[in-house]
Amino acid sequence: MHAAHGKVILLGEHSVVYGHPALAGALADGATVELQPGSGKLRVPAWTLEVSGVDGGAEEQTSIGRAYRAIRARLGLGIASPVDLTVTFLVPTGAGLGSSAAMAVAVARALKAAHGLSATDEDLADAAMASETVVHGKPSGLDHTVALKGGFGIFTRAGGLVPVRAAQPVTLVIGHTGRERDTKGRVQRVAELHAERGDEIRARFVAIAQLVERGRVAVMEGNAGELGSAMNENQRHLQALEVSCVEIERLCAIASDAGAAGAKLTGGGGGGCVIALAPGRENVVRDAWERAGHRAFVTTVGGQ
Ligand code: MEV
Repeated sequence: MHAAHGKVILLGEHSVVYGHPALAGALADGATVELQPGSGKLRVPAWTLEVSGVDGGAEEQTSIGRAYRAIRARLGLGIASPVDLTVTFLVPTGAGLGSSAAMAVAVARALKAAHGLSATDEDLADAAMASETVVHGKPSGLDHTVALKGGFGIFTRAGGLVPVRAAQPVTLVIGHTGRERDTKGRVQRVAELHAERGDEIRARFVAIAQLVERGRVAVMEGNAGELGSAMNENQRHLQALEVSCVEIERLCAIASDAGAAGAKLTGGGGGGCVIALAPGRENVVRDAWERAGHRAFVTTVGGQ
């Protein structure tokens, strides 16, 4: 079995696409891929989806089909293949938790093993980036970097993931809006705003970068109040960047009423998940979200 991590962005999504830093960590689980004898098909039983590794099929229409072929092409694989791949997701999909990057990395790892490729981690990252470009349009590379390497730290396009040593692991409550995240659409909207109101948007990116730095120091010092307030401020900027939505704002308000120190969307936004930092009150926030009809769970990032 081949696996890769999901991810959670604590601070800095969207501005990270423009070269600014983001604070992010790997989820223990993401996606797994199992190999069976076959002819190069990729199966996702959870979506009753099956795509072939060759061009021209009806599944050309699906982004998964095109992403899979992008991975195979990057790894230099032709049509002939002795194996089928079956993907299992261990995090909610379409939720801002990095499931597509986890799938891409796990698929690349499985193909490397199946075909005896001498691909390096950089080659696998390239293949995953090609897949993420199909799925998301203009990715920063954060998702697949964390999917591949795991860990916790500051990600920039230029520097990759630089580890941050947390004073203690950061426990987060994750709640699902019930609406699919819209990374591609929201990244496009931010690009439009950037073209229309460049000065304001660039100033917001700089402000978010300062929040990321505040968050980094807070995590290293174990200062939850400071990290929570940076998350709340980041959410206000994300709202102004038009990547929030009614459901996200509602989950943030419920978390705050339940005593969270901070709450914000995570990932692409427009739906997907909200994260809340609520030391000692994680179950209270989770229960409040569940009572309001949302799936929710508690997880930890930044452990060893
Ligand atoms: C998606 O997980 C995070 C975004 O910043 C896009 C990206 O980094 O590619 C919205």
